[in-house]
Amino acid sequence: MTSTPTILVLDSGLGGLTVFREIVRARPDAAYTYVADDVFFPYGHHSEEEIIGRVVPLIGELIAAHTPDVAVIACNTISTLVMAHLRAAYTVPFVGTVPAIKPACASSRTKRVSVLGTKGTVRREYTQGLIRDFAQGCDVTLVGAANLASLAEAALNGEAISDAAITAEIAPCFVDGPARTDTVVMACTHYPLLLDRLVALAPWEVTWIDPAPAIARRTADLMSKVSASHPPAPAQFIYTSGAAPSPTLARALAPYFGQPAFA
Ligand code: DGL
Repeated sequence: MTSTPTILVLDSGLGGLTVFREIVRARPDAAYTYVADDVFFPYGHHSEEEIIGRVVPLIGELIAAHTPDVAVIACNTISTLVMAHLRAAYTVPFVGTVPAIKPACASSRTKRVSVLGTKGTVRREYTQGLIRDFAQGCDVTLVGAANLASLAEAALNGEAISDAAITAEIAPCFVDGPARTDTVVMACTHYPLLLDRLVALAPWEVTWIDPAPAIARRTADLMSKVSASHPPAPAQFIYTSGAAPSPTLARALAPYFGQPAFA
C-alpha cells in the first residue's frame, strides 16, 4: 500500500505529546493531527458517563474530518473507560494508553509498585483488573493525583511550578518499610512532561515507567503495510476550543513534533 499514513492522536490536553513524540520517532513519514480537548480538560475530574458522552461523538467528528488510518487515544483517563465503546462505534483501528502495571510489576525487585494517575484512572474497574491479573505478587499502591496534570500543562505553558506543589502530589507513591517502593507507573500521559522534576523531587530513587515507547511500537506495527508516497504535510495541532497556542507554548511544542513546523 502506498499513501501517506495518517495518524490522529487525542488527549485531554498536552500530555498526549509524550506519546505523540514517540510515534513521530517511529513513523516520521506519517501525517499527524494532534487534538487537545481543552474544552473538557481535565478529564480526571469528570464522571465516567460524562467522559463516554464526550469522547465517543468527538472521535466520530475527528474521524470524519481527518480520515485517519489509526487513532491513538493518548490518555489513560479515557482509554481505561472508552476503548470498547469506540471500537463498537467506528471501524478505524484504535490504540489506547493504559497503566503499565504488567511490566512494572515484572521488573520490580522490592515487589512494591505505585501507580500514579488521575483520580479517574485509579478508580476504574479496568485498572483494578490489571492489578488482579498482572500484579505478580507485588503490593500495588494506587495514587490519584488531583492536580498533577494541570501542573504539567502550566509548566509547558511557561508558568513556574513550585517543588512543594509537585511533592504534595507524588508523596503517597513512596511507601517506606522493609520493602520500599522501587517502581512508579506514570499512568497519566501528562506526567512524563515533568519527569526531570519527578526524578529530582523523589525521596529516593525509583524507576519511572512511561508506556509511550510501547504505544508507538504498537501504532507503527498497525501501520507497517502503509508506506508514504510523498513527504507529509506539517503536523496539525488542534485545540477543541479553537484557541491558538501562545508563542511560549508554540516554542515548547516544537521539539515534540520532531518536524520543522506545525500548522
Ligand atoms: N493525560 C490524561 C491521562 O493520561 C489525563 C489528564 C486529565 O485529567 O485530563 O490520564
